[in-house]
Amino acid sequence: MDFDWEELTPAQRARHYADWHAGKGLIGGDPRRRPNSEILPSWAMDRRFVRALALDDPRVVNGERFRKGIASARPLEIEIGFGRGDFLQDRSTRIPERLFVGFEVRTKAVRLALRRLENQGLENLWLSDDDARVGLQLAIPERRVDAVHVLFPDPWWKAQHKVRRLFSPPFVDLLASKVQPGGYLHLKTDVEQYGELVRHLLSGHPVFCDHNPELADRVGPYRPTHREHWCLENGMPVWSFYFSRRDEV
Ligand SMILES: C[S@@+](CC[C@H](N)C(=O)[O-])C[C@H]1O[C@@H](n2cnc3c(N)ncnc32)[C@H](O)[C@@H]1O
Repeated sequence: MDFDWEELTPAQRARHYADWHAGKGLIGGDPRRRPNSEILPSWAMDRRFVRALALDDPRVVNGERFRKGIASARPLEIEIGFGRGDFLQDRSTRIPERLFVGFEVRTKAVRLALRRLENQGLENLWLSDDDARVGLQLAIPERRVDAVHVLFPDPWWKAQHKVRRLFSPPFVDLLASKVQPGGYLHLKTDVEQYGELVRHLLSGHPVFCDHNPELADRVGPYRPTHREHWCLENGMPVWSFYFSRRDEV
């Protein structure tokens, strides 16, 4: 199937911003319209799990502990759509001095990953089932993030599903506001044209530099995600991109 994208006209760009402000395309719908979104489910209580809208849930310590971690001086890395969590688990073990937050909209996958991480006793990692567009916006301060990893984002092939694609002009604005000067976005995809779309959006943004393969050194050794592992096993190509944030704009 072809991955369809094109340079946006001003009207199409405006449409992206209108959809964004209306909460369209959020996976699972807009949590601000969901009942009980300001309280955590009982299974999540006092664990390393957060939801942006439930950070002030007074019955649990999750929000307070999360905020304390975020307010610390530890460099922060985010993974969006961590799936089984192989990359995140490996990275947070490998670099214990850094703090990690993983967003994954599939609650069941988050619960499984949470259990695995707890068995390992990791204390530098938080998981969330928020759509990253909401989680980043509401739970992460401006210019706090050193690295954002987006590994094999869902392509959303069909025309009627395009609104769910993670990368859009307002999402790139959000990244620009959360990534600190000198920080970077790390993208991997097995859909070549998705890589080209992201490159187009990032390099066209005043805050980001064009793809620089040398930034792969900042990621260093890593455990491939489930999807990357599958691609490697099946001889499927993978495209990697690294975009650093300019110092000041
Ligand atoms: C193709 S899978 C890749 C999973 C994993 N990164 C890997 O490489 O194996 C994309 C993942 O992103 C998650 N996802 C999609 N949109 C998301 C969003 N807006 N916020 C957080 N997670 C998202 C999906 O639930 C899915 O698990």
